[in-house]
Amino acid sequence: MPRATKVFLILYTIVLLLITIHWFSPFYLLNFDQENSLPQLTDEKDVVILSEKNFSHVVANNRYVMVDFCAPWSYYSQQLAPEYALAARQLKGKVMLAKVNAYEERGLKRKYRAQGHPNVYFFAGGVKMDSYTNARKRDAIVKWTKTKIALGVYTITSIEQAEQLLMAQFTTVLAFMDSVQGQDSEELAAASKMNTDVLFYQTTAVDVAKAFQFDQEIKIPALILLEKESQHLSHFYGPFTKYAIANFVSVNKLPPESDDHIDY
Ligand SMILES: *[C@@H]1O[C@H](CO)[C@@H](O)[C@H](O)[C@H]1NC(C)=O
Repeated sequence: MPRATKVFLILYTIVLLLITIHWFSPFYLLNFDQENSLPQLTDEKDVVILSEKNFSHVVANNRYVMVDFCAPWSYYSQQLAPEYALAARQLKGKVMLAKVNAYEERGLKRKYRAQGHPNVYFFAGGVKMDSYTNARKRDAIVKWTKTKIALGVYTITSIEQAEQLLMAQFTTVLAFMDSVQGQDSEELAAASKMNTDVLFYQTTAVDVAKAFQFDQEIKIPALILLEKESQHLSHFYGPFTKYAIANFVSVNKLPPESDDHIDY
């Protein structure tokens, strides 16, 4: 046999062997986590489990929370779980990724109208803001969530959200506006960037404004600050500009030390 043919046959056999090994390899069945190339078994240690008895407390005390209302038997929930767990690891320290067994927690499921599985919600300052409906992939979840936490101002449209805001354990600003777009909204967003420890919301809904003691003859745009520790509500009467708002917020966001705190 010529030498070249021998070499070819040996190489051919090796290639066939490698293909066979790869084909029957158990690792072939696992996804690889590209970041550290470990097989991606579902390690959910960064996903917080929530139930009826601790849901409200946890959501009201953590600035940003995602909640996956899942059903363990559902194909889509199973598909989401490992990706969600990876996203939780990546977003750790910025956003809490939590899950509720919607099959067991019927009360929560009803309250948050989580009909499908999975049903993933984003909460900012304890207020349910948005649903996640994009791809069930880690990267897509992380990207979407980052755009949500980068929003300076959250828009409240329902009395249900207003109630959640009242329960939240954060110092918050709420602006009552004609429109959630335009100059006033931009000034508000700019002011929010100067006070990142305070959560900013805006609304155009009259019933929401009433729930926060904006009276009927109020001049729009109007703004209040709710200081959580002392439960103090301050009204803003300055010009609706970013500096005036930011200054009002920084002066009033701390619990007043005495009675002579400044109300603008
Ligand atoms: C909430 O309660 C459930 C059980 O009722 C428990 O498994 C879970 O760890 C609790 N979560 C938190 C954050 O305390």
